[in-house]
Amino acid sequence: MRVLVGGGSGFIGHELMKLLKVKGHEVTIISRQPGLGRITWTDLESVGLPVCDAVVNLAGENILNPLRRWNKSYRSDVFNSRLKTTKTITHSITSTQTPPHCWILITGLACYRANTETLYTEDSESTTFDLWSQLVKEWEEAGRLSENAAIHTKQVVIRSGVVLGRGGGAIKQMLTPFWLGLGGTLGSGNQPFPWIHVSDLAGIIAHSLDPAHIPASSQPQVFHGVAPALNTNREFTQELGHVLKRPTLLPVPELLLRATLGHERAAILTQGQRAVPKRTLESGFQFQYPDLTSALRQIITR
Ligand SMILES: NC(=O)c1ccc[n+]([C@@H]2O[C@H](COP(=O)([O-])OP(=O)(O)OC[C@H]3O[C@@H](n4cnc5c(N)ncnc54)[C@H](OP(=O)(O)O)[C@@H]3O)[C@@H](O)[C@H]2O)c1
Repeated sequence: MRVLVGGGSGFIGHELMKLLKVKGHEVTIISRQPGLGRITWTDLESVGLPVCDAVVNLAGENILNPLRRWNKSYRSDVFNSRLKTTKTITHSITSTQTPPHCWILITGLACYRANTETLYTEDSESTTFDLWSQLVKEWEEAGRLSENAAIHTKQVVIRSGVVLGRGGGAIKQMLTPFWLGLGGTLGSGNQPFPWIHVSDLAGIIAHSLDPAHIPASSQPQVFHGVAPALNTNREFTQELGHVLKRPTLLPVPELLLRATLGHERAAILTQGQRAVPKRTLESGFQFQYPDLTSALRQIITR
């Protein structure tokens, strides 16, 4: 299969590229930078979609870059990098004479109100109530194909939790303070912590490429990219400390997170959704790392 991956040069993309190549697929990255095995977003806009079987979009400005102050310009980079790349792909799929059979967009769980009680499945209603839910709404709308285009191309939206892996994402930023014994819960620690191992997220993307796993529909098939274990931030913190053999006695107060990251970004860390991968499992996907212990051991001791 020929697969085009927007943002394939990043953390999740790296793992996906490895998996797709092992499975014998041919992969081309869409990037801001030209290079071997790449096309640029400008190429895609000007020349159109190269002949391919599937397109995936992983492009997006890092939301939790600790080196960038949270302001209007950063906020607009976070939105534009996701909406513009997604719209460019949607437009290229709609315009081509040779549409791919599958279009996969990775978004997030922020379309569900964070609380400690409600259990969200892929059947739950997505709503708009704050900045992040607005982002997911606009992002998924940008990825929506017209009914005509959807006849040829199956659409998949994978709403992902926090992606855990050695090479990047949340763990990369946490390892140093945890190694130094400075790790602790974020805010109350009671908030749900929906997470997934990066190999499993890459696995769900690869699983979605198989037409047999996606019913024909004019609507996107939503999958939750979260491990089935429902954990809180406290459980995650304790397990990471346990695997690293380090204490986790220093909670990070919500006020400090708000002061350093801004209240909108702090909310990503101090709030979370209890989400389960109901449809992901029903579609036949098997998690390699369904629980925190196995996921963290693989990441830390590899
Ligand atoms: N990591 C997580 O925990 C997590 C959780 C839920 C959802 N997601 C979503 O999954 C996607 C991939 O996540 P990731 O962790 O792999 O991301 P990442 O490594 O931070 O970035 C992925 C790629 O996006 C491209 N990119 C970065 N800034 C951009 C900009 N301003 N404009 C256009 N492209 C830009 C870069 O590719 P080039 O430099 O080659 O252009 C980069 O390699 C993102 O959309 C993210 O929101 C991630």
